[in-house]
Amino acid sequence: MADLPALERAYRHALQFFDTLDERPVAVTASLESLRAALDKPLRDAGLPAEQVIDDLARDAEAGLLGSTTGRFFGWVIGGTLPASLAADWLASAWDQNGATYAVSPAASVVEEVAGRWLKDILHLPPEASFAFVTGCQMAHVTGLAAARHQLLADRNWDVTREGLAGAPRIRVLTSALRHESLNRAVSLLGIGLDNILHLPLDDAGGLSVDALERALASDPDAATIVCLQAGDLNTGRFDAFARICPLARGYGAWTHVDGAFGLWAAASDRYRDLLRGVEQADSWATDAHKWLNVPFDSGVAVVARPEAHRASLTTRAGYFVDAPESARDQIDWNPEWSRRSRGFAVYAALRELGRDGVAAMVENCCDYTRQLVDGIDAMDGAEKVAEPVINQGLVRFLATDGDHDTWTETVIERIREEGTAWFGGTDWNGMRVMRISVCNHRTTQSDVDRTLAVIRTIMG
Ligand SMILES: Cc1ncc(COP(=O)(O)O)c(C=O)c1O
Repeated sequence: MADLPALERAYRHALQFFDTLDERPVAVTASLESLRAALDKPLRDAGLPAEQVIDDLARDAEAGLLGSTTGRFFGWVIGGTLPASLAADWLASAWDQNGATYAVSPAASVVEEVAGRWLKDILHLPPEASFAFVTGCQMAHVTGLAAARHQLLADRNWDVTREGLAGAPRIRVLTSALRHESLNRAVSLLGIGLDNILHLPLDDAGGLSVDALERALASDPDAATIVCLQAGDLNTGRFDAFARICPLARGYGAWTHVDGAFGLWAAASDRYRDLLRGVEQADSWATDAHKWLNVPFDSGVAVVARPEAHRASLTTRAGYFVDAPESARDQIDWNPEWSRRSRGFAVYAALRELGRDGVAAMVENCCDYTRQLVDGIDAMDGAEKVAEPVINQGLVRFLATDGDHDTWTETVIERIREEGTAWFGGTDWNGMRVMRISVCNHRTTQSDVDRTLAVIRTIMG
């Protein structure tokens, strides 16, 4: 065996982390000052033994680690790590394969090819669609919208790759105010411009209004248009009406892009798949494996129904490349990065560990536990459900006797975090301060839900 004590130390620290996970407070216990005092050491001229570096790091970072990988973290949509996926990610680091092209790692290329096909299968997306394993949903938006920009401008005899955007036909983006901010960032990074986003009203069910969209499309029928839809809104988990919107947008030559950062995974479950009816008719989809598939960070996925546009918007070559066999996958044709982590290993391992049934069970458990948390809190005196969970997101708030519900809701959230058993976040919603409930970790159990409800009951008095 190779003598690499730093790896053994890291392995032991990781095991100890998992062994103590259930007892650790979910909230961070260190202050900014104490973390700086522990970690901000003088940069030395002489190096240190690798195992000492790892021991020091594990000790000094410990109190600054958020327990987001525990089963009682219900804050942001973060997700946990499945054992096989985490272990495969360790191997990806040990192997240190550059996932740029087939020639630099044939294994990484073939694993991505297979994992991409499995993902499309489990998400019920078109088998002929192209895909890219990117850092997260943010870069999946950039990838999908780069393909959209390319195609919409090519349709207007404009080659954006060569001619750039100066003087190009304007592209407009039609979406709702519920879109995630990462979509805006993709729009600005691609030079489409935030001023070209038109926020359309919602319908009574909380999705993008189909009538408003139809009016907007008809008002400028020849405009280069991207319609951005939501599969699982961040706060309520709601879905847009894909079966009506996708054909409508296509009728106007628009490109439809779907943000399904976590909601696209509902397709894995027979119980929830209908929420996504028609989504396969979109042109591009962005999702995360590091959220609901419980793959370690960073792992996002872009899927594009029009592979020619996807490839044309990103492909590149250099004189030092080595030709791959004819049918092999060079990831650089589909990804925005050059050198990159071989992200496919961890996704491949997660899908093998769970299988179709395991992904469906994880999705359904998370949805069940979300409902239990929302209903359990709603049943408490002085608390109310604000939004009915559709999948794994819910909203509640706490009612103050003096009528200042916003301040009291923030206070209760803070007290839950201080107590340490569970962790929730707050947000503004419909003019109210509310507590968000998000469940997307395979580690969450019935006992986690029961313990959390008991703590909230005690805090509420
Ligand atoms: C709905 C939605 N879209 C996009 C994103 C951005 O995803 P990522 O952080 O993986 O880039 C998030 C992140 O929380 C999200 O919830």
